Formats: sequence, structure tokens, C-alpha cells
Amino acid sequence: MKKVLVFDSGVGGFSIVRELVDQNLNIEISYLADTSFFPYGNKNDLELLDRIPQVVLAGVEKTGADAVIIACNTASTIALWRIREVVGVPVIGVVPAIKPAARLTKTKAIGLLATPRTIGSAYVDDLIDQFAGGCAVYRYGPPNLALAAEQVLRGEDFEESHIKDAIDGLYKNPMAKDIDIIILACTHYPLIRDELAKYAPKDIKFIDSGEAIARRLKEVLAINDAGLPLLKTAYSTGGNDEKFLQAAQNEGFINQTQI
Ligand code: DGL
Repeated sequence: MKKVLVFDSGVGGFSIVRELVDQNLNIEISYLADTSFFPYGNKNDLELLDRIPQVVLAGVEKTGADAVIIACNTASTIALWRIREVVGVPVIGVVPAIKPAARLTKTKAIGLLATPRTIGSAYVDDLIDQFAGGCAVYRYGPPNLALAAEQVLRGEDFEESHIKDAIDGLYKNPMAKDIDIIILACTHYPLIRDELAKYAPKDIKFIDSGEAIARRLKEVLAINDAGLPLLKTAYSTGGNDEKFLQAAQNEGFINQTQI
């Protein structure tokens, strides 16, 4: 069985793990959450570039992974190139699903929700220029939405207003009323898709990168056999972070530990 490490700042990468499970990939999955540095979305580029490649490298060495998924749009848009320089196995990044959204929208108006760091990245500007030239892309980086998702999965109290703010912020521009598709460009957000849908107009479609990532992994590791993935160990950098370790157990990881 091929070994895959899924990496995120917190529980967000669980949305990618769920996709790997749904697609029946015959692999062993370890998970690494850099919880002691959460949230990435409010850090600056230098801090992220300094830290993330080293943490990912430690995870790859610890788990003997054959490939790593950077299941974090923020880490991928800022640091993917640097992670690839440092880590000696194939690295798959998760980036905003702008290309499929541009294909699917009928109104040519797209909403983009991501962390403040991703929203302001040159990587996103390039994706929009390259793939969504004919569309209006309305962007918003809700400051606390990843935190709300983190709290939901950890079983903690969360502020409903953080979820409402995400949709309100997107629709601040009156032209945004034409949006027919919203890209969830932070891996935490699909985990609270139902909560977001409560505040969005009824017919809005949400899209994320999960399915494309599962397909890409299949190609990269040439996985041909189907079979239920083995969710092996979830590591956290956050010391004895009981709530994260509990969330990982709820997700199906058989071991949970600090790295
Ligand atoms: N899950 C991460 C992403 O996809 C970000 C969460 C954070 O701010 O750390 O962007």
C-alpha cells in the first residue's frame, strides 16, 4: 500500500481525506496538522515560507510517505514551490478551483472565499487571469471562518456570526448578486458547507478542489486498485492538543499523537 501524508494547519485537510475515502483509494493515510501555528491565513509570506517546508519535511521523514498532499490552499499558494525544493517525494498542492468554476458558471459571476492570505496572493491573481478572464470574480477573505470550522470539528463553541460574515462580505458589492457559484478555497470551508449554505442564496452552487486532488493523487502514484484507505496516524505540532487528537479519532485515524 502506498503511503500518503496529508498536511494542513489544522483540521481543514480532513475535507481532502474524506474525498480520498469517497474515491476508494487503496492507500495508507497519515495526517499532519501544524496546530501550534494555526491559523496560516493571518500570517505573512515570510513566516509561512520559513516554517511550512520544514514541518512538511519532518512529517515526510516521520511517516516514510511516498507522496504528500498540501491540503491547505494558503500553504499551497504561498509555499508550494519551496516545499517541492525541500521534500524529496511528489508534492500535490490544493489550489482554488477557479478553472472548474469558470467552466461551470452560467452568469459569469464567481464568488471566491479563502483566507485573507490566499485572497491577496499573486498565485490567485494568476489563476484568475489564466482561467477566468471572461468572468467577474468577487473575492472575500473572512478573517475567522477557518477558526469557526476548526471549532465545529473540535466540538467547541463557535460564533455563528463568523459564518454569516463570510457570505455578507462576499455580497458587499451590489454586482455580486449575479454570483451563481462560490469557490470554497480553504480546505476548512467544505467542512461547514451546510452552515454556509444557510446564509447564501438558495440556488448557489459551492465548489472545492477535493475531487480533483483525489484524481491527481491516483495519477501521481499510479493507483489502480480500489480499496478502503487505511487512516493510520494523525500528528499535531500542538503538544498534547486533546481536542485535535479527539477530532482525528472521530475522523477515523487509529492513532493520534504529537510530532
Ligand atoms: N486550511 C487552510 C487553507 O486551506 C487555512 C486555514 C488557516 O488559516 O490556517 O487555506
